[in-house]
Amino acid sequence: MKIAVLVSGRGSNLQALIKNLHGFDVEIVGVVSDNEDAPALKHARTADIPTASFAEASYDGREARDLAIADWLDENQAELVVLAGYMALLSDSFVARFRDRIINVHPSLLPAFPGTRAVEMAVAAGVKVFGVTVHLVDEGIDTGPILLQRAVELDGYSDPTEIHQILQKIEHELLPEGVRLMADGAVSRDPANPQRLIIER
Ligand code: GAR
Repeated sequence: MKIAVLVSGRGSNLQALIKNLHGFDVEIVGVVSDNEDAPALKHARTADIPTASFAEASYDGREARDLAIADWLDENQAELVVLAGYMALLSDSFVARFRDRIINVHPSLLPAFPGTRAVEMAVAAGVKVFGVTVHLVDEGIDTGPILLQRAVELDGYSDPTEIHQILQKIEHELLPEGVRLMADGAVSRDPANPQRLIIER
């Protein structure tokens, strides 16, 4: 399967995808960022993967920027769009164009703590069990059907940076696993409850 990865920052999840999947059954055909200075783009270039950046300021609004991204993804024949630390909200028309072909990794046990600063919110709420979710993207903020989740008990931890580092190790396993399931055609919606995904491993 040909996939594209959208990034905004450091790119450790992108590195996990390159290391675990790229060149096997999955080909990363492009890496796109909303931030031309994202360190993640360097990881892509090192792996000889085409890159493009689309700063919102260069377009007449987010809708126009997302249309340009979508056209680039189609030109590069991306079948699945993987959000790996992509921190901009995608427009509804982008989500509709790639319906059920966008997945995201998020550092909380959704539906708890959607949006940015999930780990900080979890710490502020005093939770003792943290976790990671890989989910399909719909028009809401981190509301799409859940593909994979893994929890970790971190009783007594209160430093968001330390917690996030622990969660990222989980992300680096869970996101490639989610992509592999999508590439294998193992994921479908439960007809009785379309918010629930059925996975046939
Ligand atoms: C990841 O931890 C990911 O879960 C988070 O951004 C980080 C990117 O790290 N995404 C969100 O919070 C999305 N709401 P990376 O650039 O090292 O892969």
